[in-house]
Amino acid sequence: MIVDVLTIFPEYLAPLELSLAGKAREKGLIDVRVHDLRQWTHDRHRTVDDTPYGGGAGMVMKPEPWGEAFDALLGEGEVDGVTVVFTTPSGQPFTQAVARELAARDRIVFACGRYEGIDQRVVEDIATRAEVREISLGDYVLNGGEVAALAITEAVVRLVPGFMGNAASLVEESHEDGLLEYPVYTKPAAWRGREVPPVLLSGDHAAIAAWRHDQAVRRTAERRPDLAPASVLLEDVEIRPVQPADAGELYVLQRACWVQEQHDNPGVRIPALHETYDDLRAWIARDTVLVARSAGRLVGAVRASLDGESWDIGRLMVAPDLAGRGLGRTLLERIEALAPEAASTYALFTGAGSVRNQRIYKKAGYRLRGEVEPGVVRMTKPVRR
Ligand SMILES: C[S@@+](CC[C@H](N)C(=O)[O-])C[C@H]1O[C@@H](n2cnc3c(N)ncnc32)[C@H](O)[C@@H]1O
Repeated sequence: MIVDVLTIFPEYLAPLELSLAGKAREKGLIDVRVHDLRQWTHDRHRTVDDTPYGGGAGMVMKPEPWGEAFDALLGEGEVDGVTVVFTTPSGQPFTQAVARELAARDRIVFACGRYEGIDQRVVEDIATRAEVREISLGDYVLNGGEVAALAITEAVVRLVPGFMGNAASLVEESHEDGLLEYPVYTKPAAWRGREVPPVLLSGDHAAIAAWRHDQAVRRTAERRPDLAPASVLLEDVEIRPVQPADAGELYVLQRACWVQEQHDNPGVRIPALHETYDDLRAWIARDTVLVARSAGRLVGAVRASLDGESWDIGRLMVAPDLAGRGLGRTLLERIEALAPEAASTYALFTGAGSVRNQRIYKKAGYRLRGEVEPGVVRMTKPVRR
């Protein structure tokens, strides 16, 4: 990838020449070229700004040096694979998703504004020749676009294939799955009287994955409710593996929860409404089952078992008075997180007439795979690790 930076303060970009670009350049992954915009001026003072049309405070960057700079860098025709990034506080906010898109480009040209910004015609002119993006680093005003170009380059270059030694660490980072990252720990296990959470020392990969996911969801809900998925944990709800003593309440909750299903799917024989108490005790002993309790009351449950490579999830239930508050989604996420290594697909079965359920599962990433028996549909989602 080629990264060009157009600026009137080339020295500002020195950090790019040092650590980051140095490492990426050694690997032949990026080629950073910093250009002094003033080399495309022709007067004695090398002027790049002028007073704003319409009046007002400050100066505006003149179009001519920018136009000549772009002609020199890109030529005069249309170019493919090139994105010109105008850094501006009135641009689209920079996010990890934008970083991923930019990482797929062959070349990025940063136009770093100063003063009150760049004459808008420059943006319009370049847009006829290359992909243009106006990008903001955040809702605050910097003195110039150089810091934004540095930050964007650093975020993008980390995503260029081959830059990071361990690609898995990219996948688990904050924002990659829409959640903030869980807290991380290293040795020693005890430090200044503070212990590392015991689950991380357990060697139980499924339990670790579930704990990390839970922490990520909690953090996101607390710190960035704007990012939090619908599955924000309900206060005071404890989710834990089922115990034999839960069987009686689970049996009652299940009956209550599936009455609506029967209304929505007349004529379909629904096992949850017909099985005996002993049937239920048998599957809670056999399958992976989570229950949710609030103030001592059983308010939700879900079960799963491995069938070949399919992690079959079922009996997802939430007490009717708590429906619509994210508990079902949370239970679904928790049971997904417990899928064994061998699972490549999550699968769910629901009534063909259960429109609300299907909508919830679609929102969680599941796709309809058709009827498996009259009135019953299968929905699946690939396991991503
Ligand atoms: C002082 S600012 C101009 C602010 C402009 N008058 C406004 O209110 O939108 C000068 C330059 O800094 C850069 N800049 C400032 N804040 C930025 C931000 N949040 N994100 C990206 N670039 C920014 C832009 O390149 C901008 O042209």
